[in-house]
Amino acid sequence: MKINGATVSHDVEPRTLLVHYIRENAGLTGTNIGCDSSSCGACTIHINGESVKSCTVFAAQVDGADILTIEGLADGETLHPMQQAFHECHALQCGYCTPGMVMAAVSLLKEVPKPTEREVRIGLEGNLCRCTGYHNIVKAVLQASGQGGAQ
Ligand code: FES
Ligand code: FES
Repeated sequence: MKINGATVSHDVEPRTLLVHYIRENAGLTGTNIGCDSSSCGACTIHINGESVKSCTVFAAQVDGADILTIEGLADGETLHPMQQAFHECHALQCGYCTPGMVMAAVSLLKEVPKPTEREVRIGLEGNLCRCTGYHNIVKAVLQASGQGGAQ
């Protein structure tokens, strides 16, 4: 498969989850594991442009796919606009949910470029944050969509 534009290839056991493959075989530890029930979204990545919880997929299922993780989002030293908005809006505290939250938010804006606050909240309902109360996360997504600014 390709991860962030680089071709990677490993033999894996059929039971290997994609999130474990990304972290342990590909060595990309920005994608986090926050639960064992497919409910937190900390492991969210993009597979062929679609936002997916990588703990719900076997690595073998994405043979040949194009994977994007949080490490591949910035353009060199320039943060992706969503990362920049999270930074400016203080949309994180411990940061554990942030990679998955950012990946889900980028995907949301691809589908709905100018979401309402409610659409942002609904769009990110599969991603849990234990720290922020979501207010600043929603603000960041709205800012990244060109609506509103950091306060
Ligand atoms: S680790 Fe994948 S949803 Fe929680
Ligand atoms: S910033 Fe801590 S879990 Fe979201």
